[in-house]
Formats: sequence, structure tokens, C-alpha cells
Amino acid sequence: MKESINGTVWKDINGNPIHAHGGWILFHGGWYYWYGEDRRERYYVSCYRSRNLRDWEFRRHILTMDSRMEAYRVRTKLQLQNEDGGKVNLERPKVLFNEKTGKFVLWAHFENGRDYTAAAAAVATCDTPDGDFTYHGHFNPYGYMSRDCTLFQDDDGTAYFISAARDNADLHVYRLTDDYMNVERLVHRLWQGEYREAPAVAKIKGRYYMLTSFCTGWEPNQAKYAWADAIEGRWSCLLEIGDETTYHSQPAFLLQKDGRTLYFGDRWGGDGEAYFSSSYVVYPLELTEGRLAIKPVEEIWL
Ligand code: GAL
Repeated sequence: MKESINGTVWKDINGNPIHAHGGWILFHGGWYYWYGEDRRERYYVSCYRSRNLRDWEFRRHILTMDSRMEAYRVRTKLQLQNEDGGKVNLERPKVLFNEKTGKFVLWAHFENGRDYTAAAAAVATCDTPDGDFTYHGHFNPYGYMSRDCTLFQDDDGTAYFISAARDNADLHVYRLTDDYMNVERLVHRLWQGEYREAPAVAKIKGRYYMLTSFCTGWEPNQAKYAWADAIEGRWSCLLEIGDETTYHSQPAFLLQKDGRTLYFGDRWGGDGEAYFSSSYVVYPLELTEGRLAIKPVEEIWL
């Protein structure tokens, strides 16, 4: 990647801008797969892959307005266009590989494309990490609102879906069923009334850490983090991290590589056309005497 400066628009190996906002990286079979929002044309989610986190090859628009739709046992609404034929929103897509079913399972935040009232979770699957995903629709877990979201897979394969509920006031943690296709239990309603969004989780030195932002739309704010000895155990209070704008970014996800933890954030351009000037930052996370810190390096740090 030639443009190795944080906050610039990164290019793939063909010189095209990478469209993978609010994204996620899954390491599978020796490749890093980068998924994220692609709001151009009829696309929703794009996928790139790399062996080294620097040279990214575009693979596919894995979810589009024309993706195959298939109902499954969970009652969902199968809707990849709104009533006017316009686009819906599929934000913050995350993908896990399910060992038991051999499927790549994607969860995202669904909205109707006009406003943020749907506040739902969407599910899609594929047999390969970068193939055409089949869309299984959206639903409100146990009837709750579900906005900014992430996934987390624990060492034993147990997976969690974490999303902002009650107009973002509370952050819910749902344990997933063992096929990752549904929620099985609401295990936490964290930090009620603290309005956390953009959750990102990693296990560092045996402890679980979760970064979140406050709710200021596209404008960055100061992230906070909390820790726990188990996802379903007790979480700490929220502690500040970074500066008042989290070095001009909002958490997208955390990635572990070579024993280090990387913070991937979005530097959002804003609404409409401005969205397309959104860029990315990668900062190392440092854990010193139990305190987590973001190192705001200028060069992309991989
Ligand atoms: C942010 C959220 C983004 C996007 C944006 C829209 O708060 O984290 O994913 O939904 O609002 O304004």
C-alpha cells in the first residue's frame, strides 16, 4: 500500500480506493479478509483480501441490492430495497467462520435507507469467505432495537453479537446459537443510559476489552473502554481512551496480529457525497499496567 498515512484514502493493489467502511477483518486460511460498507451504486458490502494487511486485492461485492435472498427458521424481513426501490442501509458488517456448519456468517445493522427507525440486525451467509452471500433478512432481537454492532468469537467458538439498543442508550450483548444464525440469550445490558456505540472487542492477555464511542453521528468523540474477565461476567466502568476525538476516528474493530492488538477506526467524511471521502486509521493499542492506550501514529501501523 503506497498511501501509508492514516486518514488518507487507501488503495487496493489495482490502485482503486478501498470501500470497506465500518468494517471488519477475518483471518482465515492464511488470508486476512477485509469486509466493510460500500455505499456505491447497488452495493452494500465489499470484501478485499491480503496476506500482509498492506496489499489488498478486491474480491467481490458480497452483498448488493441484487443478492440472493433466502428465508430461514428465524422470522425475518427479507428486504434489500425499500418500498420505493431505493437502497436500504447495511452498516458495520462483521463476519465469522462457523466451524460446525462450515459457513461464513455475516451480521450487520439494517436500516430502511430513509431514517434510523428500523434499528434491526441483518444476517447473511456464504460457503466461502468472499463469495456471493445469501441474505437471510433482518429482525429485532427479542424485539429490541439494534443499531451499531459487532461480533466477537471466543476461544471456545462461542460467539456474541453486541449492539446498541433503546435508541442507543444501552449496549446489549447477545450470545449466539452455536450455528451463529440467531441470538440465544441476552447476557448483558451494559452501561444503561450511557449511549455507547461502535463497539469493538478483543481478548488481550487473558482479559476482554471493549472499546465504544459516544453517539455523535459522523462526528468523532472520545472513545471509552471497559474490561472483563469473561464476556458474560462483570464488566468494569467505562474509562477514557485516546483524546477528545479518538484521534479523529470512531472504532470499527480490533485485530490481533503477531501478539499485538491493532485499533482500526473510521475517519468518516459525513453524509451524502461526503461519505465517500471517509478514510481509515490503524493505531496500535498498548496495555500497560492494566491501562489501555491508543498510540496515535501517523503512518499506518501494521
Ligand atoms: C454513527 C454510526 C455510524 C453511522 C452514522 C450515521 O453514529 O456509528 O455507523 O450509522 O452514525 O449518522
